[in-house]
Amino acid sequence: MKKLTELPEWQALYRHQQEVALYSMREWFDKEPERFSRFSLQVSEILLDYSRNRITNDTIQQLCHLAKAMALPRKIENLFKGEPVNQTEKRPALHTALRDKKHTPLLVNGQNITSRITATQKKMADCVEKIRSGEWKGVTGKSIRHIVNVGIGGSYLGPMMAIHALADFATQELDCHFVSTVDAALIQDVLKQIDPESTLFIISSKSFSTIETATNAQTAYAWMERQLGKEVLSKHFVAVTAAPQKAKQFGIPEDHIFELWEWVGGRYSIWSAIGLPIALMLGNKHFAELLEGAYEMDQHFRQADLAHNMPVLLGLLSIWYTHFFGTHAQAIAPYSHRLRYLVSYFQQLEMESNGKCVTQAGMPVTYPTSPVIFGEEGCNGQHAYHQLLHQGQQIVPVDFILVAQENKTEDRIHHDILLASGLSQAQALMRGKTYEEAREEELALNKTQEEADYLARHREIPGNKPSNVIFLNRITPYNLGALLALYEHKTFVQGAILDINSFDQWGVELGKQLLPHILHRLQGEKQQPLDCATEGLIAHYFSLGSKQ
Ligand code: F6P
Repeated sequence: MKKLTELPEWQALYRHQQEVALYSMREWFDKEPERFSRFSLQVSEILLDYSRNRITNDTIQQLCHLAKAMALPRKIENLFKGEPVNQTEKRPALHTALRDKKHTPLLVNGQNITSRITATQKKMADCVEKIRSGEWKGVTGKSIRHIVNVGIGGSYLGPMMAIHALADFATQELDCHFVSTVDAALIQDVLKQIDPESTLFIISSKSFSTIETATNAQTAYAWMERQLGKEVLSKHFVAVTAAPQKAKQFGIPEDHIFELWEWVGGRYSIWSAIGLPIALMLGNKHFAELLEGAYEMDQHFRQADLAHNMPVLLGLLSIWYTHFFGTHAQAIAPYSHRLRYLVSYFQQLEMESNGKCVTQAGMPVTYPTSPVIFGEEGCNGQHAYHQLLHQGQQIVPVDFILVAQENKTEDRIHHDILLASGLSQAQALMRGKTYEEAREEELALNKTQEEADYLARHREIPGNKPSNVIFLNRITPYNLGALLALYEHKTFVQGAILDINSFDQWGVELGKQLLPHILHRLQGEKQQPLDCATEGLIAHYFSLGSKQ
């Protein structure tokens, strides 16, 4: 296969960008009243408005040609069929199988995974029933009231994000805490808020060897054991892992270990037993709805033609800006307090998946592979980093995530202001303000000609800045499931076209390898000397009176 950047489709896009770059979206909107209907698309209760992008019909067509040249339709099928799309680890990435409501039989290493998925889902559902009904008792006979999820990365971000997003559906009978980073301040803060007799710890770790999770799990166990004895392991601890032997060694009984599999990537694992805290807080029915929403987006992704395929369009637009406009970042702006943690969730999803420097075949890539994903809930972002979006030198495409209907309707004025804020930001980015408009405004305020000229130079806003609006009817488990699957597939599309492996994360491993050496040094052990900066910082640490 030819190198991506040598493909005629890529070269054609390169030339096309030089034409498109000359136009302003503001003019297009003035001339084309049908632009919104042409560049918007609905899947179930999610509307994507991508009309405020620097695109013409031709752009979408040419991007679709590129997708076809990179065999995107075949790659999508390979993903769903369980081909080893994660080539470095020789594994499929079958998060879609976890939400396949048709339970299509799928073989991985000769084993039908469907029955194992169903068995684990049943085990999860039983656990949820027992805890929510009060049947599950702690060692002193008290029912469970507090859930503590001990996990990091994909074993944390998904449940944390979803429980906040769906707070309106959560039971009041339980509360859920998250212990992720190894900073003792976090776990100690959580331990202060819970009662050991009515607490269930979920040790959530695909590998069951992540140092942060292992350390926090030991601290949690020691704290529980001090108060209630060794028996706590059988009543107050469960594990979610693909390494059940390690969970058993920790002391968790087999019955309380929920299976995870190598073919589920950490950042794609919310649909598996990693979602146990979600099911506990929302109940089995709502957890099933989350999976159903994702399933619907899966069907759309698999079946819709490229030019009318929501995840494909989002992926192609990202490539359009990153590769042809030279952008480096992508902002996510959820105008919903409930959806505030989507930013971190999408950050892991896209940056851990696509932050790569070699192709599938192991050849260096000569193009950026993932924008930096950042953001903040609206309206907070507006009063912080949006200034740069409006008048900074670089283009930063924005995804505005808006919600039409609040689950609680009594706060109508708040919601209308919130929505108007998101819509006006998208409009402002697109339209900007001309020098003449700014000057007229100043003159209308009785400024002198000289002052008006001066201020207009500062108040001119270039506009022509791209954004998408992703508009949800409501925040429901179903719609959240569809939204998350949308971004998962968007991420896949980018990786497939850029010819990189979106399912491994070797970069993260280096830090994990280096850590033990430094840790031993901090604990006063003699080790091979390190680079002078690390040595200097360790010496500084010791000089501040820390132990040596
Ligand atoms: O940071 C790398 C990573 O492997 C993520 O991909 C993963 O979600 C996280 O660490 C946690 O891993 P585990 O679930 O194995 O503890």
